[in-house]
Amino acid sequence: MARQSVLVCVIIVAAAAIVMIPACATAQLHPDVYKQSCPQALPIIRSVVKKAIYREPRNGASLLRLHFHDCFVNGCDGSVLLDDTANFTGEKTALPNLNSIRGFDVVDEIKATVNSLCHGNVVSCADILAVAARDSVEILGGPSYSYEVLLGRRDATTASRNDANTNLPPPFFNFSQLLSNFQSHGLDLQDLVLLSAGHTIGLARCTNFRTRIYNETNIDPHFAASMQRICPANGGDNKTAPLDSSTTRFDTVYFKGLLVKKGLLHSDQELFKGDGSDSDNLVRHYANNPNDFAVNFGASMIKMGNMKPLTGSDGEIRLNCRKIN
Ligand code: HEM
Ligand SMILES: *[C@@H]1O[C@H](CO)[C@@H](O)[C@H](O)[C@H]1NC(C)=O
Ligand SMILES: *[C@@H]1O[C@H](CO)[C@@H](O)[C@H](O)[C@H]1NC(C)=O
Ligand SMILES: *[C@@H]1O[C@H](CO)[C@@H](O)[C@H](O)[C@H]1NC(C)=O
Ligand SMILES: *[C@@H]1O[C@H](CO)[C@@H](O)[C@H](O)[C@H]1NC(C)=O
Repeated sequence: MARQSVLVCVIIVAAAAIVMIPACATAQLHPDVYKQSCPQALPIIRSVVKKAIYREPRNGASLLRLHFHDCFVNGCDGSVLLDDTANFTGEKTALPNLNSIRGFDVVDEIKATVNSLCHGNVVSCADILAVAARDSVEILGGPSYSYEVLLGRRDATTASRNDANTNLPPPFFNFSQLLSNFQSHGLDLQDLVLLSAGHTIGLARCTNFRTRIYNETNIDPHFAASMQRICPANGGDNKTAPLDSSTTRFDTVYFKGLLVKKGLLHSDQELFKGDGSDSDNLVRHYANNPNDFAVNFGASMIKMGNMKPLTGSDGEIRLNCRKIN
């Protein structure tokens, strides 16, 4: 069906003018999808997200990550939200997600509120994740209206634990593995560097950075020692540490940390090794140019949000984000 949408697009362009072709490449999603069907949808989502972040700032980080983990597994189709059924084992128990992704209660609250105030089931769970991710970034101090979210995604009727295990990058990946993973999703080096800055907010568990803080050399020794006080060499897998030193602010401190070897995850520090690589230069550039970061981060988020959406009559609009209708 995605193929069909593309076909429709090509016909329209042929009938109109050839200059419209570039707009067509991303013409499947639009910012105004709910303008008629539920004009309050976006303000409602934002207000629930705002309350959730006020309750606990980490909720913003968790919502941003949900959108990422949704999009990287067979496209932005809300699959990450599905509970296991008799027919499939969902993504929640895949290794990158197990005891790790959170924010489902906030998504439920958003969905219940839009369903009731929109007088019907019109807003998809996949779109809710995309909007909640953008709102979280802004509420936690990112630039306001940094980017306009494109909408019109429909929800998957299936999910795959196996696909989540193979498509999401683990924190022990080296630079070339991270880059090939992103390239396999149609993203490039700049997207890798920008989107990794999602780690400017939120926490990671000891189990995901233990090897780095005990055994790696490309790390600031004082930083390693202070993280070792949080994360023991044995046990305490669930103990958490901030991914950067201003973990409730969406800022460029994540990049500044990488410049001084204070990346918490192995995968973070892989982006800056001080060897003059293209990746190093991007990290240094964004560390020192917050406005460029804000604008370019938005562009990469839109690119990620465009990954393989279900449109037209594919999928469904789920009534409850945790289960198919
Ligand atoms: C580049 C490859 C990436 C790797 C290897 C990676 C890995 C991780 C890991 C291991 C954690 C900690 C999970 C835990 O310990 O429970 C984490 C947290 C997080 N990740 Fe990533 N990540 C990547 C990219 C991204 C991207 C692209 C985004 C969003 C744009 C993102 C947003 C987040 C956020 C916000 C958190 C904190 C979540 C919370 O506190 O609930 N990550 N990531
Ligand atoms: C499993 O799939 C069958 C056939 O498509 C369907 O009838 C049934 O309702 C599904 N079960 C669940 C729990 O989704
Ligand atoms: C970590 O927390 C999860 C629940 O989130 C629990 O099931 C697991 O047993 C905990 N692991 C350790 C090592 O405490
Ligand atoms: C990255 O990891 C892959 C797979 O383990 C390995 O083949 C490659 O040599 C590594 N690259 C670097 C630069 O270490
Ligand atoms: C650090 O490396 C040593 C030697 O390879 C290994 O025995 C130990 O388990 C590692 N420690 C951690 C926390 O990864």
